[in-house]
Amino acid sequence: MINASYPHTRLRRNRHDSFTRRLVAENRLHVDDLIWPIFVCDGHNQKQPVKAMPGVMRVSLDNVVEHVRPAVELGIPAIALFPVTPLSLRQSDGKEALNPNNLICQAARLLKEAFPELGLIGDVALDPYTDHGHDGLVQNGHILNDETVAILTQQAVNQAKAGIDIIAPSDMMDGRVRAIREALDQHGFQTTRIMSYAAKYASAFYGPFRDALGSNALLSGDKKTYQMDASNSDEALREVALDIMEGADMVMVKPGMPYLDIISRVRREFSMPTFAYQVSGEYAMLAMAMQHGLLDRDKTILESLMAFKRAGCNGVLTYFAVEAARLIKEHS
Ligand code: PBG
Repeated sequence: MINASYPHTRLRRNRHDSFTRRLVAENRLHVDDLIWPIFVCDGHNQKQPVKAMPGVMRVSLDNVVEHVRPAVELGIPAIALFPVTPLSLRQSDGKEALNPNNLICQAARLLKEAFPELGLIGDVALDPYTDHGHDGLVQNGHILNDETVAILTQQAVNQAKAGIDIIAPSDMMDGRVRAIREALDQHGFQTTRIMSYAAKYASAFYGPFRDALGSNALLSGDKKTYQMDASNSDEALREVALDIMEGADMVMVKPGMPYLDIISRVRREFSMPTFAYQVSGEYAMLAMAMQHGLLDRDKTILESLMAFKRAGCNGVLTYFAVEAARLIKEHS
């Protein structure tokens, strides 16, 4: 019998040529794995760079279709929309979230008309609409749960009416997935999917996103009474289990790279369509290092995304989506 250890076994043999490396590759990154988050702002002919996120723009409605076109042409299956709500429309009750002509709804209608095949993901939470920057209603410094859920359900229906295909609640209120599912069904949106931000951590890595939205300066305190504590892992499984029972079609872990262990546990435990959000802070770190020539741009993008595939993700929300899609196309 051949002794299955060195020198008979040499793991380098399979690495010897590109063709064997390709044959034995366990994971592959595909354009279908990519979801592109974009920021929509008001005004005319706006393309405002986000300082903390080199290469990322806030675009006004009149530019949104052209902004998204390259993603569609590359075959990216879905984009996630985030509104930069004008400060004058931000109130303590986040009422602008329910306006059928808010930035998200207008963008959704424009994009559905231009690209009927493109999946549209709508973030459901109040933080882009509140003057205190929290994801829910605040009373005496407390974030109200059930009262917030009542508004989120209306926000979800409002977005579905505008053409959003996937509702993505990012608020971390308890019980919101069930309430949103029921409200969608009652309004005839049985096929509208829910991708829950199931295990979302109270993370410093959201800083650049809050800058992009203009909510950082507004935010009083932190989000630790609703988003998860970084020290917990079993609790993430309980969060995910509840969201699945409440009717989530897909689950997400967020942030991504610092929480790959959670992604891996979630995928193994539930075998659900599992997604990760490579969030703004992860993007900023990588993009800044690339900008300074410290990291090879193309290789780093692909390697950072492959980590999510290895951990068990079906897909990744990433600000690199368009670049990654181009790279994948060039390499195939
Ligand atoms: C809002 C929301 C946040 C992100 C997505 N949806 C920020 C937050 O919870 O404060 C972060 C995305 C990113 O950092 O790229 N509920």
